Amino acid sequence: MPFSEFAIALAVLQVPAPQPSAPAHAVALRVEHLVNPLGIDVARPRFSWQMADSRHGARQTGYSILVASTPERLTAARADVWNSDVATSNQSLDIEYAGSTLAARHRYYWTVCIRDQNHRMAPCAAAAWFETGKLGEPWQASWIARSTAPLDTIPHDPADGDTTATDGRPPLLRRGFVLRAAPVRARVYIATLGGYRLTVNGAPAGPGVFTPDWTDYRYRITYQTYDATRLLHAGPNAIGVLLGAGWYASRFGFSSKRYAYGPPPVRMLCELHVTYADGREEVISSDSTWRTAPSAVLISEIYDGETYDARLERSYWDRPAFNDRRWQHALVLAPITAALQAQAIAPIEETGEIRPVRRWSPAPGTYVFDLGQNIAGWARLRVRGRAGTRVRLRFAEILAADSNITQVNLRTAKAPDTYIARGRGLESFEPHFTYHGFRYIEVTGFPGEPTADDLIGVVVGTALPRTGELSTSDPALNRLWQNVMWTQRANLFSVPTDCPQRDERMGWMGDAQVFWRTASYNMDMTAFGEKWLADVRDGQLENGCFPNFAPNFLGVLTCGAPGWADAGVIIPWTAWRQYGDTRVLAQQWSAMQRYMTFIRDSNPDYLWRRRKTTEFGDWLPAGSTKSFGETHTDLISTAFWAYDAQLMSQMARALGQDREAAEYHDLSEHIRTAFDSAFVHADGKVGAPFVNPDGVHSEYTQTGAVLALHFGLVPDSLREAVVRELGDDITAHHGHLTTGFLGSAYILPVLSDGGRDDLAFRLLLARSFPSWLYEVDQGATTTWERWNGDHGNPEMNSYSHYAFGAVGEWLYRYLGGIDQSADATGFDKIVIRPRWDASLDSVRAVYRSVRGAITSAWQRRNDGSILVTVTIPANTTGEIRLPATSQPVANGGPAFRGMQDGHAVFDLEAGTYSFVVAR
Ligand code: BGC
Repeated sequence: MPFSEFAIALAVLQVPAPQPSAPAHAVALRVEHLVNPLGIDVARPRFSWQMADSRHGARQTGYSILVASTPERLTAARADVWNSDVATSNQSLDIEYAGSTLAARHRYYWTVCIRDQNHRMAPCAAAAWFETGKLGEPWQASWIARSTAPLDTIPHDPADGDTTATDGRPPLLRRGFVLRAAPVRARVYIATLGGYRLTVNGAPAGPGVFTPDWTDYRYRITYQTYDATRLLHAGPNAIGVLLGAGWYASRFGFSSKRYAYGPPPVRMLCELHVTYADGREEVISSDSTWRTAPSAVLISEIYDGETYDARLERSYWDRPAFNDRRWQHALVLAPITAALQAQAIAPIEETGEIRPVRRWSPAPGTYVFDLGQNIAGWARLRVRGRAGTRVRLRFAEILAADSNITQVNLRTAKAPDTYIARGRGLESFEPHFTYHGFRYIEVTGFPGEPTADDLIGVVVGTALPRTGELSTSDPALNRLWQNVMWTQRANLFSVPTDCPQRDERMGWMGDAQVFWRTASYNMDMTAFGEKWLADVRDGQLENGCFPNFAPNFLGVLTCGAPGWADAGVIIPWTAWRQYGDTRVLAQQWSAMQRYMTFIRDSNPDYLWRRRKTTEFGDWLPAGSTKSFGETHTDLISTAFWAYDAQLMSQMARALGQDREAAEYHDLSEHIRTAFDSAFVHADGKVGAPFVNPDGVHSEYTQTGAVLALHFGLVPDSLREAVVRELGDDITAHHGHLTTGFLGSAYILPVLSDGGRDDLAFRLLLARSFPSWLYEVDQGATTTWERWNGDHGNPEMNSYSHYAFGAVGEWLYRYLGGIDQSADATGFDKIVIRPRWDASLDSVRAVYRSVRGAITSAWQRRNDGSILVTVTIPANTTGEIRLPATSQPVANGGPAFRGMQDGHAVFDLEAGTYSFVVAR
């Protein structure tokens, strides 16, 4: 670097002032991946924390975990539940509880005290807690319902004189009771078949909507725990439940079957445990003393919206003073056999609100509101009108040419909400058991002209902590990243769904598999992933095959397609690498083994050609008019099988099963050899051979090459040629990809790993069709299901599908350059390796890993040099690799390791650093 540049470099470096040596302490305490979880059903919960210590080189050298019955007892001498003693260890993730047996429905307090790099014991962390749920304790309550009738499918309007159909309306269930004193502690444990909303003395018991979780209710139902202490008082109290269809009873899936998991009616099981100051306990359980009546909800189904008749509301029905003597007694039903488990993930909640940005009137009395953002959720309506005024809302992702909304891409989902006014002042409405994927809302029947204050978009989804941020100098790229995030938000509904709008919204495994790494950078997917993998195991076929989607709902399971079923192996591996937890592997292990045996048993020649019930190929590729694409399905299946075997080998090793690790490694080598002789050709083309009149030719696709490269199936001697062929094909397509769901997920990483960042940037930044930014230029606010979302057949065309959003992985790992070394898990050995390109001036990426926040930012300066700033968290180490021809100026004291492959490499300990890389 010339002297002048060097001087400038030193002048502009914002050297972080050396931090006063803040003593180490633990923060972000979590149990079972959650902060202070209420009601967990785990015998040996896992404890995790992060080390807060801004000193360079901060490291944990030991820890002790204390668990006690009160916060005051959280000292080494007094901890009465568990004292782990000081363990000499840098572990801070998922340490298993090893104290005496935990009691059911009990709160435990805990803390962790850590020892720093100087072997100094730091002050213990602020007390945290966890509370056990029923932990296998029998339920005293009975399942109850209003009647045995199914819920209605068509709203019966009492205005039409039809008052007979009350049994088919979602019911209300209530119980009034008297408490002799204000409780010191009160918990509600509730499970339903159907959805529910719970209130205590008229107040919502928690923020959750769409409770309980969606699972295969034939096998597993989750119950939720609520802290009702502050909602109850001495004297009369009331508990109220509105029961709706939910996933249990709604028409759902392609069969559009209702009650796919079991017969009517929707029903409920509920226990309120009250503890008084004197330690005595009282339990109020669901039984025949509960009273029930039809609600004001006429119909509410996931696809088909809600009709709500406010004239039928029973004011104060869930308050103590309400007189329910004329209500019918609840019906007591037989016990059910499905397992009841505590919900172990964050609830689905309202996570945001959006005010419309535009309104117009395409026809007299019809108004369309544009939220400016495609979301999943519903609209909150405000209206003042005469009793019986019917306001109808219809939801859509797109507009027709005449500026009306169109629901052409929703297939049979009707997505309307209808509110019938009570006629008393200002009224407000939000639906209860339906949600929509939409950007536009059509309003008809509104008395007068609705304004933006009358209609608010409510964003709904499983509320997971956000862990990723990305911003660059390119607004289109920023929008792409936001679109990926919005699409993820729209598709977490206790299950990772494919889309939020049409009659589908299922846990499609291929989509989830390609997107999981991106998803795990964007949000904390730990607990959510474990929950869904249990659904996947519930859906595993008798013969070992994993399904196409989970939870199942058809009753008849089919074996999943290659690239889809493999999610059963790929997602546990991804979760373990990203978050460092091996329990997810242990939970899935035998299921994965059965899957591997299932494939192997029918394919002794190591090409997965037999026993594929379904195939989706490289679904919806850019380069083909066929949904399945042109990539040979045997190539796809064999490539995924080889990948599975490699991952199995790694996971076996992580579980300490060395024999299996070696066996799966052998298996992967056999499959690789078979793959190479079938599909990898000496000229660097990867494809299935096919014969045409000129002789044998390879059926070449970008996806074939991408899968072979990404899964390490190409012999070293041919790697360069395969990358070159892939590059040539991209150039032949004028800088475009031809890939579908499977190939698009890996194409940019494969190019970068092959030394072709230039092509990765070319694809990423391409504006013409088909490309990611083409969608952005067309005004997309979420990622599309199809590359040709704007001009293809609109009928099966979701505008909120995350599969192509898998490009997010490249944005974090390559553009921002936040990655970890191949043998690391949970980012304990961080690799920072940003990529830059002339078309960008700056990039800033943040990833709040399970060990703490990692930041990587680079910025092009006026003199053409690049300023890089990086932070890696306490208790991690790392390295940074910067593209450079000479040693960059470095600040913060990183150790220069040397130049390697055109990169300057520095070793990093925890801390903040900056570098200037000369032009
Ligand atoms: C879903 C997909 C899914 C596919 C399987 C579609 O209907 O929307 O995203 O992976 O079916 O081919």
